[in-house]
Amino acid sequence: MSTPFAPAPFPLARPRRLRAQPWIRSLVAETTLTPADLVWPLIVHDGEEDAQPVPSMPGVDRLSPRAAAKAAVRARDLGIPAVALFPNIAKTAKDAVGTGATDPDGLVPECIRAIKDAAPEVGVITDVALDCYTDHGHDGVLEDRRIVNDATLERLAEQAFIHAHAGADVVAPSDMMDGRVQAIREALEANGFQDTLILSYAAKYASAFYGPYRDAVGSARALSGDKKTYQMDFANSDEALREVAMDIAEGADLVMVKPGLLYLDIVRRVSETFRVPTLAYQVSGEYAMMKAAVANGWLDEDRAILESLTAFKRAGCAGVLTYFAPRAAELLG
Ligand code: PBG
Repeated sequence: MSTPFAPAPFPLARPRRLRAQPWIRSLVAETTLTPADLVWPLIVHDGEEDAQPVPSMPGVDRLSPRAAAKAAVRARDLGIPAVALFPNIAKTAKDAVGTGATDPDGLVPECIRAIKDAAPEVGVITDVALDCYTDHGHDGVLEDRRIVNDATLERLAEQAFIHAHAGADVVAPSDMMDGRVQAIREALEANGFQDTLILSYAAKYASAFYGPYRDAVGSARALSGDKKTYQMDFANSDEALREVAMDIAEGADLVMVKPGLLYLDIVRRVSETFRVPTLAYQVSGEYAMMKAAVANGWLDEDRAILESLTAFKRAGCAGVLTYFAPRAAELLG
């Protein structure tokens, strides 16, 4: 005899029915991940070797322009739409104002040309910021121990022009100076590059998770102090919306949230609020953490890659910058 507290003999609603077989799981999946969602960040260098391992990022090499062109061909063959370039410049070539950033024959223009020769159908995204070129490792011009905003804008605009002129499809300011998207947009318009896209690192946080990257590009040892006077405070979320709104008004075509996994709440708010293509960057520290756990046998690498990248899509990303791009594309291909 049933008591007033006994459950019905069977549940009427059984969500597990939708999970019972692979075919039904795939039919009802709300989110899909394909190689077309990925951007592959390439660390390039002006050293002798074609591929020089980065110790803090196992599986990632610093590439010569020739090797970067080969990587772009591989990206094309894997269905990865774009690569993003980050330069490791010889220490002796760095100075206080980042002169190398605006050298039309510098490493990045050389890589852009090599990639466009080898795989013209692959999108080339360049990092617009001075940190890889300054001897103090900051993204802007340093005067009296302060990063001077407006003096930096002119340098960034010139750097973006040089990248566009060398054939970059997308320039991506990652410096977090105020007004840089407008300065870059005006410089591009004035010089015949109205079709060059701007991907703004609109919500870029001052993060501990850039550590391995700064190693990779050789700015870690150079960096004096931190970047908290220009990169965002990780306590803030409304401020990210304000930054994104400003960058869109200044002419950004796509916006980026960075780092990635720890900031998916920001991705969700940004993509829902603005409905502009929103990318996120699974940064070097996220990559290194996963690689370390994998090396210890604590994580299954392939499953962790697909789960983490799908999470970006689920949160609202149009695409993800990830050092796992080639492996993920192989798994998805
Ligand atoms: C700065 C820049 C950084 C990264 C890309 N561009 C780091 C920084 O702000 O110090 C980090 C990328 C990564 O950690 O993978 N121009």
